[in-house]
Amino acid sequence: MSIKAIISGTGLFTPEATITNDELVASFNRFVELHNERYADDIARGDMAPLQPSSSEFIEKASGIKSRHVMDKEGILDPERMCPRLPDRSNDEPSIQCEMALVACQEALARAGRTAADVDAVIVACSNLQRAYPAVAIEVQESLGIDGFAYDMNVACSSATFGLQAAANAIENGTAGAVLVVNPEICSGHLNFRDRDSHFIFGDACTALLVERSDRVEAGKGFEILGTHLKTKFSNNIRNNFGFLNRGDESGVGKADKLFVQQGRKVFKEVSPMVAELILAHLDSLSLAASDLRRMWLHQANLGMNQLISKRVLGRDASREEAPVILDEYANTSSAGSIIAFHLHHDDISSGELGVICSFGAGYSIGSVVVRRR
Ligand code: COA
Repeated sequence: MSIKAIISGTGLFTPEATITNDELVASFNRFVELHNERYADDIARGDMAPLQPSSSEFIEKASGIKSRHVMDKEGILDPERMCPRLPDRSNDEPSIQCEMALVACQEALARAGRTAADVDAVIVACSNLQRAYPAVAIEVQESLGIDGFAYDMNVACSSATFGLQAAANAIENGTAGAVLVVNPEICSGHLNFRDRDSHFIFGDACTALLVERSDRVEAGKGFEILGTHLKTKFSNNIRNNFGFLNRGDESGVGKADKLFVQQGRKVFKEVSPMVAELILAHLDSLSLAASDLRRMWLHQANLGMNQLISKRVLGRDASREEAPVILDEYANTSSAGSIIAFHLHHDDISSGELGVICSFGAGYSIGSVVVRRR
C-alpha cells in the first residue's frame, strides 16, 4: 500500500485582544479629524484634499468583517500612531511568531495524540516573517525539541496550502514521517491603519497542522490528503514592497508602499473565477465532482468573494454549513484563514466525506487541497 499524507491534528492560537468595527472606525475617524485640522490651511487653499471618514456599515457590507483579534490593540487604536506596538525582542527571547506557533503546535500535537518526539520537520508558512534568519521554523523546532529539519516559506495568503503540499510531498517521498505546518500571521503589522480603503481588512492568528504518514495514524483518524493543486500568476494588484533593501521610518509606521496595498475591486473580479476554475479542475483530475464535496474551507478575505466562488463551484448558493465563515470574527488572517475554518468546522464530517481547503491571495497564488475523512 502506498504511503499517503494524513492531517492528524489541528491547532489555533487566537490573540486575546479584539477590535470591533466601531472601535476601529472611532480611532480612524479621530485620525482623520486630527489630520484635517493639522492641514486645514492646505485644504482651504485647495492644495490638499481632506481625508474622508470610515464607517462600520460600509466595512460589514463590503467585506462581512465585524471584528478582528490583534496582538496589540492599544498601538493600533492610538490615533497618533495607528500601528501595533510590538517591541523588538532580544536574541535571548523567543520571537513573537515563535510564541504564537508554540501554542498552535501544542494543540495540533495534543489533538493528534502525539508529542514533539514524533515530529521530523517544521514548516513555518506565512505572509510576513519577523526576521530574515535564522528561520522562525528552526526556532519553533528548537523550542519544541524536534530532531529533524525546519524552514520558512512565504506565498502570502496561500502559504498554508503551499506548505501542505510541501508536507505531503515530504511524507509521500519518505523524507519525513510527520511534519508540522504552522502559519503565524501578524497581519496587523503589515496593514496601513491610515488607509480608509483597507484599514479594516486584517486580523492576527496562528494555525498549525500536523501531517503524518498514513501507516502511522490509526485507521479512522484524521483527513487523508487526496491531492493538492497549486497555481500562481504574477499580479501587482496585491503588493507589499517591504524588503531587506529598504526600511521604514523612525516611527516604525513605515512608508505606505512598504505596507499592504491592493486594488480590491480588481482582485475580487480577477481572482474569484480563477479560484472556482482551479477547484473544479482539481476535482476533475481526481475524478470527483463538486457534488461530492461536503465542505469548502475557503480563504477568508471577503464574504462576497467566498459566496461567488462557492456558487461557481457548486452551481448554486452554498450554505454556511457547506462553506463556513470565520472572517466575521477574525477578519482576513492571510494564510491562517482557511485553516481556522478547517480547525473550527471539521468535527461533524463523517468517515468517507470529502472537503476542499482552498486559499488565494497575493502573487496571485491559489492552492487547493482535497481531503477525505478517514
Ligand atoms: N468607509 C466608508 N466608505 C468607504 C471606505 C470606508 N472605510 N472605503 C472605501 N469607501 C468607499 C469608497 O470611497 C467608494 O466610494 P465611491 O463609490 O463614492 O467612490 C465606495 O466605498 C466603494 O469602494 P471600493 O473600494 O470599490 O469598495 P469595494 O466594494 O470593492 O470593497 C474591499 C472593498 C477591499 C472590501 C473589496 O474590494 C475586497 O474585499 N476585495 C477583495 C480583496 C481581497 O480578497 N484581497 C486579498 C487580500 S490577501
